[in-house]
Amino acid sequence: MSKVSALYPGSFDPPTNGHLDLIERGAKIFEELVVGILRNTEKSPMFSLAERLEMLKTLTAHLKNVRIEAFHGLMVEYAKSIDATCVLRGIRAVSDYEYELQMALMNRKLEPTLETVFMMPADKYSYVSSRLVREVAQIGGPVKGLVPEVVEQKLREKLEPAYKFHDEMQAATARASGGKEKRKKKT
Ligand code: PNS
Repeated sequence: MSKVSALYPGSFDPPTNGHLDLIERGAKIFEELVVGILRNTEKSPMFSLAERLEMLKTLTAHLKNVRIEAFHGLMVEYAKSIDATCVLRGIRAVSDYEYELQMALMNRKLEPTLETVFMMPADKYSYVSSRLVREVAQIGGPVKGLVPEVVEQKLREKLEPAYKFHDEMQAATARASGGKEKRKKKT
């Protein structure tokens, strides 16, 4: 079989453990895997393109056949420009399927020679999405185990006031419930 290069496109805002799991799986079956970060002009991302590039480069440094790049415009045109013959996308649950099917068929209409390949991340990441990670982190909630440590650190730096407020509230709640326990014991 000839060399198969695949493109794994996405927003990666931020990269999650689910993304990384899929990249590692993809790197095992494709000769070359390009992770293409969409230079998204409509949505305002939490992480700049430069930050997402840096995080993903760090996270995939151990995978020699993986390259991290940015793209804009039509994904199929970018795939063609880098000689990718496959597009890799992750499917976590049935709920992903409809959107992914629609996108894959539209991409096939735009470029019939490009095949979309779906892979499943480990089931422990089946509920993890960048959107939910952003939502939890914006309230200062814990994202340990959902994103790689470097991403967790970046989220803490970016959302420091939210984490500080959340940690202070937690500490105050713990103090208050400690006081209640003491009063209960006395009575
Ligand atoms: O991680 P995401 O946000 O689910 O990834 C979506 C992405 C980047 C794969 C998709 O929005 C995309 O390919 N955008 C580029 C523009 C394009 O080609 N649109 C037509 C899609 S059918």
